[in-house]
Amino acid sequence: MITLLARAKINLYLEIIGDRPDGFHELVMVMQSVALADQITLRRLNASVIQINCDHPLVPTDNTNLAYRAAALLQKRFPNRTNRCGGVEITVDKKIPVGAGLAGGSANAAAALFGLDVLWQLGLTRIELQELGAELGSDVPFCLAGGCAIATGRGEEVDLLSNPPKLTAVLAKYNTLSVSTPWAYKTYRQQFKHTYRSPQSASSNATQPPTARVQSGDMVRALGAHDFSAIGSHLRNDLEKVVLPAHPKVAQLRTVMADQGGLGTMMSGSGPTVFTLAETPQQAEEILVAVRAQIADADLKLHVAPFVTQGIRLVG
Ligand code: C5P
Repeated sequence: MITLLARAKINLYLEIIGDRPDGFHELVMVMQSVALADQITLRRLNASVIQINCDHPLVPTDNTNLAYRAAALLQKRFPNRTNRCGGVEITVDKKIPVGAGLAGGSANAAAALFGLDVLWQLGLTRIELQELGAELGSDVPFCLAGGCAIATGRGEEVDLLSNPPKLTAVLAKYNTLSVSTPWAYKTYRQQFKHTYRSPQSASSNATQPPTARVQSGDMVRALGAHDFSAIGSHLRNDLEKVVLPAHPKVAQLRTVMADQGGLGTMMSGSGPTVFTLAETPQQAEEILVAVRAQIADADLKLHVAPFVTQGIRLVG
């Protein structure tokens, strides 16, 4: 039996560059793992089946579950090695909110790949696991790497940043509100396609350097310099432009959170989780208490989540 922690991520930066031939969006992101985590337990089964246990009502336990798909992908890709190992029971203790922009499903898939590589003795490298992860979802390779990274392409090309600062995020999400990631990107395309860089200008960059629009360098420099106020001021998420107008409650939550003296406030991924950065866990606790005092809604769930350096942690 193997037990792992699958950590959530936040986006410190998410810029949408344009369309890709595969139908996805070309992105430039800066992602950070945080301590909020699901616990994943893997247990060998004699019969060659994959069984998912999860008591969260929004998490499927059939073959659409991303952790299920991770196990099925390994069985398909390595039949000789996995056949002799039998099947697996995957138990997900869900702590990361679902449909939240925190990559909870991707983190579960990453933990399943990482843990099954150990359980089934596949001997795969992190790069090989990340390549398999990219087939399951754009955020899975980052979840396998963890820490702080620039993610480009559709999000699957991950470059780790060294020595990132140890800040703490306050995460806030209305429990009963979820945002569909395909909806957010589709709506963004409908409204902002005129701003997309054409594939030609992306490849023939003799006249326009590729850095002309992308401002992630400011964030990366701020992270490298541990310049906390610059990290706060260079937060960016293009998807806020479609998610906040569609969900005024989230826009109002963002305003309240931005007012609490943290380093900066932004929506994560396709939302609707909003985060505020704090220098210390103590400051984060104070911000959490202040937000709770201003929004007396039992549906609003808040978490203090320090930055962590690993996406997946083997705990037993
Ligand atoms: O890769 P993932 O399954 O997480 O993506 C979910 C959806 O988000 C995709 O089906 C697509 O609609 C949208 N998406 C996108 N461009 C990306 C990543 C995701 O359009 N780079």
